[in-house]
Amino acid sequence: MVQIGPVQLPDFPLLLAPMEDVSDPPFRAVCKEYGADLVYTEFISTEGLIRDAIKSRKKLDIFPAERPVGIQIFGGDEEAMGLSAEIVETTGPDLLDINFGCPVKKVVCKGAGAAVLKDLDAMVRLTKAVVSRTSLPVTVKTRLGWDEDSKNVEEVAERLQDVGIKALAIHGRTRAQLYKGEADWTLIGKIKNNPRIKIPIFGNGDIDSPEKAVEYQNRYGVDGVMIGRAAIGYPWIFREIKHYRETGQHLAPPTLEERIAACRKHLEGSVAWKGEKLGILEMRRHYANYLRGIPHMKDWRMQLVTADSAAGISGIFEALLDAHVSGALLRADV
Ligand SMILES: Cc1cc2nc3c(=O)[nH]c(=O)nc-3n(C[C@H](O)[C@H](O)[C@H](O)COP(=O)(O)O)c2cc1C
Repeated sequence: MVQIGPVQLPDFPLLLAPMEDVSDPPFRAVCKEYGADLVYTEFISTEGLIRDAIKSRKKLDIFPAERPVGIQIFGGDEEAMGLSAEIVETTGPDLLDINFGCPVKKVVCKGAGAAVLKDLDAMVRLTKAVVSRTSLPVTVKTRLGWDEDSKNVEEVAERLQDVGIKALAIHGRTRAQLYKGEADWTLIGKIKNNPRIKIPIFGNGDIDSPEKAVEYQNRYGVDGVMIGRAAIGYPWIFREIKHYRETGQHLAPPTLEERIAACRKHLEGSVAWKGEKLGILEMRRHYANYLRGIPHMKDWRMQLVTADSAAGISGIFEALLDAHVSGALLRADV
């Protein structure tokens, strides 16, 4: 069992990474159904929360079925971070996560996200500001350091543990790397081996198969892994890793029926949460991922992204299943 303050997770938990415009409640629910043990919201601006921006507040929506869930915030101002911690607490998440890893300019320019990797005193102050204003367990997600010459995550781990964070997730790249190159988990492993470190350490970066999850667990000793891109359109990654860890065998990939069921659930969730028009619109970017590899995927996707009612989309799913069952899906004329 892995413990984050009062939150209990199973052994070697699988975490769904926070992802802007992706990790919304409908997607989180689908990932949860297929085995994610802890899910996070996308990052939420503390400035937005304080200004009471509707868009930021909407991102605080969480639902019972997805628990345990963490709300992630980012910001570069201590008072705004503290106040946001109080706002977040009123919405009742299981934990509050601070983003100290976002590399994008609009975040870094404001002294938030990965910017504080250049100023660990500021990072510690911001973290203290959050920890002191909430009774929620506070966790942090960060990167190895600012750039190749300043990989300071080992110091980050000790100092943030000392000010009270309850878990640390580390993406094995620097800010300068953005998403380039391969994630390097060596320092993550070193932190796990540091006898001073008592909090759970989660590794993140490039986990895209059951073998890799198990190999990285064995090699780096992490308490769990956080998965981002590999779960987009493929929430089955979670159950596949679990099955492989338990049995050493690969689980069969999802059938077309399962893919469509997940797509439907995701769409229904989107429509319920955002309304039919926006829900349908925002779902459009997911079809290609859910249907990757099926024959004539482009044509089916085109139909799905041009349909403008939930009933219309449901009809296309039915036609796709019929074509599959009748064998027509495999014929060139479909
Ligand atoms: C579309 C997208 C949006 C992201 N948004 C966030 C975010 O809001 N907060 C955050 O901490 N990381 C964010 N990330 C980074 C991921 O959480 C994760 O660290 C990164 O994708 C590496 O993990 P992976 O190789 O499993 O994808 C985002 C990544 C992607 C691809």
